[in-house]
Amino acid sequence: MIKTVLIAGGSGFVGRKLSSVLKERGLRVYKLSRKKTKRRGYIHWNPDLQTIDNKNLSKINYIVNLVGANIAEKRWTETRKQELISSRVKTTHFLRMLAPQMPNLEYYVAASGINCYGPETEVVHVETDPYGDDFLSQIVKEWEEASDKFSDICPVAKLRSGVVLAKHGGMVKKLSIPFKLGLGSAIGTGKQHIPWIHLDDLCRMFALSIQYKWEGSYNAFAQCSSNYDFMRAYAKALRRPFFMPNIPAKLLETILGERAVMLLGGTKASNKKIVSEGFMFQHKTIESTFKHIVRR
Ligand SMILES: NC(=O)c1ccc[n+]([C@@H]2O[C@H](COP(=O)([O-])OP(=O)(O)OC[C@H]3O[C@@H](n4cnc5c(N)ncnc54)[C@H](OP(=O)(O)O)[C@@H]3O)[C@@H](O)[C@H]2O)c1
Repeated sequence: MIKTVLIAGGSGFVGRKLSSVLKERGLRVYKLSRKKTKRRGYIHWNPDLQTIDNKNLSKINYIVNLVGANIAEKRWTETRKQELISSRVKTTHFLRMLAPQMPNLEYYVAASGINCYGPETEVVHVETDPYGDDFLSQIVKEWEEASDKFSDICPVAKLRSGVVLAKHGGMVKKLSIPFKLGLGSAIGTGKQHIPWIHLDDLCRMFALSIQYKWEGSYNAFAQCSSNYDFMRAYAKALRRPFFMPNIPAKLLETILGERAVMLLGGTKASNKKIVSEGFMFQHKTIESTFKHIVRR
């Protein structure tokens, strides 16, 4: 019998690719979205009003939760911070409320963030380390706690993703114009670490987590590259110069406000746990990953 996956946030950068990966693996996919569309495979919901078109919910075997207002997009005013939290936490609580309408639910897996351990130190973080005290860590903590509410029904996993790399979205899309103009540079000291993962690897990780019902939290990234190495590798893959001075931290803070911490801060972590589950990264080094992305 064909199994059915519900991807909450399936219309986004990760969700669109994941949807096609899961379909290729023979699964039926429904995507939850707040946008009304007649396109096949979409289920309309409004988590703020707690409404949903529930006619297909009884078919759902697996939930993948990718919902969340974009962290990099707007200035972190108090209102935006609330939106970043509630778009993850309240939506997850609403999904949990809907679970009784999904009697065939076998597994739940959510995206999460590797930036949950607090500002970078010399420590290489593993999954059992405590959450940090900063805003990004607290979002992840509340989000993961909301996901854990599914654990009385089925196994639950949380994939703490690094920066997701692919040609047409996420960070690469944001960097592409200055870098293509030859204006690429490192940021701040350039020493802070960026844990990253190729979109194809992340989608395969979600697919395998469903297949093997992995449980618990997993650091989900291929490598932690220094900001300098990361930016230089992108410029090199584009065959563009990389001679501009580092963007000063103060300038970035003026432009981005508090959200500059996403680029000025870093995380060192270990991916041993996911590797020990048997996961093999196809994109292992930042140089070959950017070459692959640019070539496509
Ligand atoms: N991309 C990365 O580098 C990265 C790294 C680490 C973790 N993550 C996490 O992984 C998840 C997926 O990332 P992504 O890059 O695919 O994100 P994305 O492109 O911004 O998509 C997120 C989805 O969430 C839904 N959404 C946004 N705001 C919402 C709100 N207020 N209420 C309900 N739904 C809302 C949107 O669906 P509709 O508009 O269709 O409703 C959207 O399709 C996110 O939670 C993100 O924080 C991403």
